[in-house]
Amino acid sequence: MNILSIDTSCDETAVSVTSGRRVLSNVIYSQVLIHKKWGGVVPSLAKRAHEERIDFVIEEALKRFYKLTDPAPAFPPVSARKKPLRAVGIPSSRVTRQFTIQTMSQIDYVAVTQGPGLAIALEVGIKKAKELALTYKKKIITVNHMEGHLYSSFVQNSKGNPARDFKFPYLGLLVSGGHTEIVLFKDHLEYEVLGETIDDAAGEALDKAAKMLGLGYPGGPILEGFAGEVGNKDEYKLPRPMINRKDLNFSFSGLKTSFLYLLKKMNEKEKTDKIRELASSFQEAVCDSLLIKLEHAIKQTGCARIVCGGGVMANEHVRKRLRRLVHKYDGEVLFPPFKYLNTDNAAMIGIVAGLKAKKNQFVKDFAKLDRIPRMRLV
Ligand code: KG4
Ligand code: ZN
Repeated sequence: MNILSIDTSCDETAVSVTSGRRVLSNVIYSQVLIHKKWGGVVPSLAKRAHEERIDFVIEEALKRFYKLTDPAPAFPPVSARKKPLRAVGIPSSRVTRQFTIQTMSQIDYVAVTQGPGLAIALEVGIKKAKELALTYKKKIITVNHMEGHLYSSFVQNSKGNPARDFKFPYLGLLVSGGHTEIVLFKDHLEYEVLGETIDDAAGEALDKAAKMLGLGYPGGPILEGFAGEVGNKDEYKLPRPMINRKDLNFSFSGLKTSFLYLLKKMNEKEKTDKIRELASSFQEAVCDSLLIKLEHAIKQTGCARIVCGGGVMANEHVRKRLRRLVHKYDGEVLFPPFKYLNTDNAAMIGIVAGLKAKKNQFVKDFAKLDRIPRMRLV
C-alpha cells in the first residue's frame, strides 16, 4: 500500500511516498532562508512559498519513488523527451503527463496534514491533496501533525531499518516550535494528553531568546551551539516555571520575561561577552522544565519508555540529559532514527496514514475537508 503524503503545516513544504513504515521517497523544501531575516515564520510568506513549490516537491517525490520501484522505465524518462507534456493536476513542464499518470497509478491513497499549524499554510496542502485525489481517483486520509511527530521514532528507511518494534505504552515527549506536550501513547492511534504548555512552546521560547540575543533563526540550534562552548553551564539560574506543581503542564512565557529583564540590566558589552553563558542558561532552564515534568509523568504513570518528537528533541544536550533520567528508571528512550525526522517532514504523516488506512479512516466528503489550525491530538 503506497501513500503519497503532504505536510505544509509550517515552514517546510514536504511530500513523501511511504509503504507501511518504509519511506520510499521523501522530499523537504525548507523555507528557513525566507523566514530567517524576520526572526520567525511569517504566515503569508509561508503560504506563498508553499504554493510556489508544492508542485515541484510532489514531482520530485514521485520521481524518486519511481526510480526506486521501477529501475527500467516502460517509457522514455522525462529528460529524454524533447517537449514534456503538462501533467494533469500538476501543472509543470518538468514531468510528463504519462509519467505522472503511471506513477500515480501506483499510489493507493493521498494523505495530508489537517492541523495543527498555520491556517493559510495548511490550506495549500489540503487543496493540493484534494486536487490529486480528484484527478487520480484516490481516497484521502487526514493526519494530525503531532501524531506524525509521535510516530517519527518508528519510521524506517526503504529497506525496513531500523527494525524497532512497538512496545506500548509509551510516554511521548513532543517539543517543537508550536507545541510542548507529554502524551500517553497507549496503542496505535490511541493517545491521552497528560500535560501541555499553557502559553509558549519550548521551541518558540528558544527562538525568542535567540532573537533577544540578536542571534539568528531558528534559535534552538544556535543556542545549543553557544551553550556547548561553555559546557552547558547554568550561570544565571533563570526560573523554572511550574515545576513545583504536580500537574504536567508547562509554561515558558515567564522564563522569557525573566530573560528579558536580565538582558535589560546588562550593557551591550556585557551581553556580547556573556553571550554563551546567557544562551546556555536559557537552554538549561528550558531543559530542566521539560525533564522535571517528564519525571513527574514517569512517576505518575509508572511508564519509563519514552518516545521523542519535534524539533527541540534534536538537541544533543537535552537528549543526553534525557537518557540519564530514563536510565535512573531502568527505562528506554527512542529518538527519530534519521536526522530529517527530527523536524517537519511528510514521511511521519505517511506512517500514521498507513495505520489509518488499515482502519478505513478515510475522508468521506472532500467538500467538507478543511484545515484545523488548532487541531488537538484527542
Ligand atoms: O518540529 P519543528 O521543526 O517545527 C514545528 O512543528 O514547530 O520544530 C521547530 C523548533 C524551532 O523552535 C527550533 O528552534 C527548534 O525546533 N529546534 C531546536 C533544535 N533544532 C530545532 N531546538 C533546540 N535544539 C536544536 N538542536
Ligand atoms: Zn512539527
